[in-house]
Amino acid sequence: MEPSTPVPPRVRADSPNPITDLHRYREHHGRATADPDGFWLAETRLHVAWQTLPTVGLQGSFHDIAEGPLSWFADGTLNVTESCLDRHLEDRGDKVAILWEGDGGEVVRLTYRALHEQVCRAASALRDLGLRKGERAIIYMGMVPEAAIAMLACARIGAIHSVVFGGFSAEALRDRIRDCGAEILITQDQALRGGKTIPLKQTADAACEGESHIKKVLVLQRTGVKVGWTPGRDVWWHDVVPTADRDHEAVPCDAEHPLFVLYTSGSTGKPKGLVHTCGGYLTWAQYTHRTVFDLREEDVYACVADVGWITGHTYIVYGPLANGATTLMFESTPTYPDAGRYWDMVERHKITILYTAPTAIRALAAQGDAFVTQYDRSSLRVLGTVGEPINPDAWRWYFDVVGEGRCTIVDTWWQTETGGICISPIAPATPTRAGSATLPLPGILPALRTPEGRVVYGPGQGLLCIEQPWPGQARTVWGDHERFVGTYFGMFPGVYFTGDGCRRDTDGYYWITGRVDDVLNVAGHRMGTAEFESALVSADQVAEAAVVGYPHPIKGQGVYAYVVLQPGAPATDDLDAQLNACCRAAIGAHARIDRVQLVPGLPKTRSGKVMRRILRKIAEGQGDQLGDVSTLADPSVVDAIRAGWVDE
Ligand code: WT7
Repeated sequence: MEPSTPVPPRVRADSPNPITDLHRYREHHGRATADPDGFWLAETRLHVAWQTLPTVGLQGSFHDIAEGPLSWFADGTLNVTESCLDRHLEDRGDKVAILWEGDGGEVVRLTYRALHEQVCRAASALRDLGLRKGERAIIYMGMVPEAAIAMLACARIGAIHSVVFGGFSAEALRDRIRDCGAEILITQDQALRGGKTIPLKQTADAACEGESHIKKVLVLQRTGVKVGWTPGRDVWWHDVVPTADRDHEAVPCDAEHPLFVLYTSGSTGKPKGLVHTCGGYLTWAQYTHRTVFDLREEDVYACVADVGWITGHTYIVYGPLANGATTLMFESTPTYPDAGRYWDMVERHKITILYTAPTAIRALAAQGDAFVTQYDRSSLRVLGTVGEPINPDAWRWYFDVVGEGRCTIVDTWWQTETGGICISPIAPATPTRAGSATLPLPGILPALRTPEGRVVYGPGQGLLCIEQPWPGQARTVWGDHERFVGTYFGMFPGVYFTGDGCRRDTDGYYWITGRVDDVLNVAGHRMGTAEFESALVSADQVAEAAVVGYPHPIKGQGVYAYVVLQPGAPATDDLDAQLNACCRAAIGAHARIDRVQLVPGLPKTRSGKVMRRILRKIAEGQGDQLGDVSTLADPSVVDAIRAGWVDE
């Protein structure tokens, strides 16, 4: 493309979805494939508020990823908050940016003008506390507007935020603080969720006990409970933010400057801090949000995820705000005070786009249709789902009952690593099918491969890979590029491996079948079996443990633990509770084991490797279909385990 056509740097993101039918979709996909640089440069120059417009697209490739992270738009400079806030002030200053609904039903509306002011003040306050460009800040909060304000305030400074989901334990929080070397922690006294309080400040204090990098803790008051206080370190949000400088110039950042680090679980070891960078991430966030959901100016858009996960980053905060949308932040749960909560909100706020997870859809469907039908849902136009495969029954309930057969369902497949949606219907363009994420977005070239790396053409099944870089993908693992390369490019050199299995039908539609590695997806929460196992063996009475997933009707997957006790250790009645307490302490409240089976030993190969395939089969209730177990060191263990399996 021509370098430097004079485009005003602060363009209005007035952006109807250009992909209105399947023909246009194919045309866009074709162009993004044939000329990725031209396609994405044009896109980003039009829809992102660059300070210096980029003239180069992709540099680097999956083949030379081991030499260093690839880059997009490397000669551009920007501050993402100008795309999310400043450029909307003129035309959308009085439009609601964040529509917050609290646990008890209280509502706060923050206009783009008000949000801009609060972000500037929070940025000034953080700067006064010592936070500088490139430094890390941990955000450990519930779903309050200040969580988004804190993220944007960090971005305004050019500091790198790492949001840690409020369910994580002190130990998990401490690991993340250490790994990214954060010196500032932003938290709140307590979070509120479903009528319960979550003691965030107390957990944060525990995470900082002993030697800690943390120099300052900024604390938002949410419930007013008395909390422990470390003078000189702890600072109340209300003491410093409202009085901090109202003006805070957005610090210019290179396109590849990190915007955030977000930790996610893998098959092995501790969670990895995936690094997303300013230019490419924002380009992908706004593009996918605008096209997939077919965003319109008057939409009331509600993604009911938590900002602690990538969905919250991309589709509550960065994507919607870059598009000048009204984005809902929801503090509560789908079942508080009852299973009508979402639909009550839809009626009261006239929500047009709702984005949730299959686990919530299944849980609500199980409560009966009356909770839905008693509310007016005529405002709804697009219904999104994300996080795990959606079974056709849940899909149909979402379509028929919630959407009254009128709304488009967008089943969006993506990952923390991909930054944003990769395979999904584009609301007005793609004919949907219950249970299929349908087709790849422009810029995404999926491939199915056999475990040996052979590409499967046409209809078939295989390991889901992506063959070409796209702007939104994570660039590296914080502090460990080698781990990034090994994890994602080690399986098939030159190709990104997602960890998912997938089927493609005769029409080229993709049907994700779930993880093929040792990653669990429990109620949309991603956790590594290795994390559970290391928590379990930390219990005194446990000698060995192996954890696998098994199908669970609501949560998608349940957690099944095979436990070998220490010789002589008694199997006490409260063993399950004790083991769960270990997992809660090591990981967090969301890490619950559903079933514990005590076994005399684990099935191992002669080289000592635990054969999880066998354990998975038994947990699924298919212990009679194990196939060849002759490579086991002691095949009799399998009989004992099979005999101990109980159909619950
Ligand atoms: C894993 C990524 C993407 C934001 C939330 C989860 C599974 C995600 C779908 C979908 C089938 C899906 C995959 C993926 N997944 N969306 N629409 N259909 N599976 O992000 O925690 O990084 O987890 O979630 O297994 O690998 P994450």
